[in-house]
Amino acid sequence: MIQLFTKFLKNWSRKMDKEKILEEIAEEIRRCEECKKNKFGLAVPGKGNANAKILFLGEAPGPQESKKGEPFIGPSGKFLDFLLDLAGIKREEVFITSPVKYYPGKRAPTEEEIRHGMLHTSKQIEAINPKLIVVLGNVALKALFPDKKLKISEIHGSVIKKDKRIYFLTFHPSAGRRFPQIKKKMVEDFKKLRKIKKVISLK
Ligand code: URA
Repeated sequence: MIQLFTKFLKNWSRKMDKEKILEEIAEEIRRCEECKKNKFGLAVPGKGNANAKILFLGEAPGPQESKKGEPFIGPSGKFLDFLLDLAGIKREEVFITSPVKYYPGKRAPTEEEIRHGMLHTSKQIEAINPKLIVVLGNVALKALFPDKKLKISEIHGSVIKKDKRIYFLTFHPSAGRRFPQIKKKMVEDFKKLRKIKKVISLK
């Protein structure tokens, strides 16, 4: 009984430490002039469980996210919720962020913006130390594997293992929401994710 309580206390204080570190990184992002350059609204550092075993990496916040400072709360977020449900994942269990931390407007983020955003994002990944990263689309793929010429359309539904972490590759929800063919593929991918989670004993 005492051992169980000690273990609980240890886990609890570790979670508190991680939450503190994540808040410090979020504050660093909110103050970062480079992140803000040529972009709009509030910073969206990311949100979720500091002890998450799974981290989702998107692209950049949209207009709705930039009003509230929270990731995936607009139309793509609704579609992501539908997909999470298929995979048997609750939002509160995972951490969700993007390599680019501000709304860039109606344009794709530049390579330099992605590279810069990853300086902050890598710290978030290090602090959380997730076992699995779900890579949502080509921008996230480029952010994590800048030296590889990979395309989500060619390798979605597969995994990459690197440095004790597993990366599951799929499309960005905004593509799945807009194109029925991609939606179909994402539905299959997230059903696969449900199985992968079990195999690597995340649940
Ligand atoms: N798309 C992203 O990649 N991130 C968000 O937070 C919202 C939409």
